[in-house]
Amino acid sequence: MEEVQYLDWNNSIDILKKAYDAGLFVLIIGPKGTGKTSLVREFAKNQCTNLESINFSLRTRESHLIGTKTLTEGTVSFDEGILIKSMREGDLLYLDEINSAEADVLLRLDEALDDRRQIALKESTGEVVKAKENWFVVATINPLTHSGTKELPPQLLSRFPVRIRLEYPPEDVELEIVKKHVSGEHETEIVQAIKLANTLRQAAAVEELFYSPSLRETIAFGKLLDGGMAPKDAANFVFGNVYTQWGNIEYQKVSDIITSMFGS
Ligand SMILES: Nc1ncnc2c1ncn2[C@@H]1O[C@H](COP(=O)(O)OP(=O)(O)OP(=O)(O)O)[C@@H](O)[C@H]1O
Ligand SMILES: [Mg+2]
Repeated sequence: MEEVQYLDWNNSIDILKKAYDAGLFVLIIGPKGTGKTSLVREFAKNQCTNLESINFSLRTRESHLIGTKTLTEGTVSFDEGILIKSMREGDLLYLDEINSAEADVLLRLDEALDDRRQIALKESTGEVVKAKENWFVVATINPLTHSGTKELPPQLLSRFPVRIRLEYPPEDVELEIVKKHVSGEHETEIVQAIKLANTLRQAAAVEELFYSPSLRETIAFGKLLDGGMAPKDAANFVFGNVYTQWGNIEYQKVSDIITSMFGS
């Protein structure tokens, strides 16, 4: 895939930079598909720092962060996990969706993230690993409405004193972002699709609908148009059909909106 330029529409890069220079870890909060991961990648690229990422889930274990003992040809060694590696190298550690993990996994992070920036490798030699000077940590959380997410324990929250909110952008900004991913033709239809997306987002916000489309959907719509699909069809495939998951009534509500915006 070709590399897409990131549009820093709310100056988040600058905030990340200031936090980095001050050695303050950052938490990015926002719903799915608002550009959290792209922002961190862009920042790592700008800083020319190596990025180590981990996506948290219920299945993430302490060993993914710290490491595991391995046995090869009769000798036991310790395969260091992503947290330890990033501390040794002074990399940018990206903890994605940190609030999807089990609490016990997070406990161990507390130790590394406190002001001393060090951790005792009690599972191997007991060595105390001290983070290299430039070690930096950015975490993301999805808002609590997101299924499977839990509240972050306050002591862990306090390890990330700089918090960036990333919401869906204003319509004109979303258009600029979509245009970075598509040809630039079909602007009128893309503007319509963004309006549709925002209508659905607002309905989802007040729980009239079960799903809120993200930037991924408005970008996908533009790509299908580039491929020659009719706007009405693209709107159904990208925005409409997903709602059948919650039954015909839910689907019909959205289908009516699509017809009123894109014709039948
Ligand atoms: N500011 C932006 N400039 C260019 N592209 C963007 C921007 N914001 C979002 N995108 C695009 O929107 C899509 C979703 O972005 P991304 O994956 O970074 O979101 P996310 O918040 O990490 O999503 P999730 O919560 O699902 O992990 C990607 O294709 C990304 O390239
Ligand atoms: Mg992401």
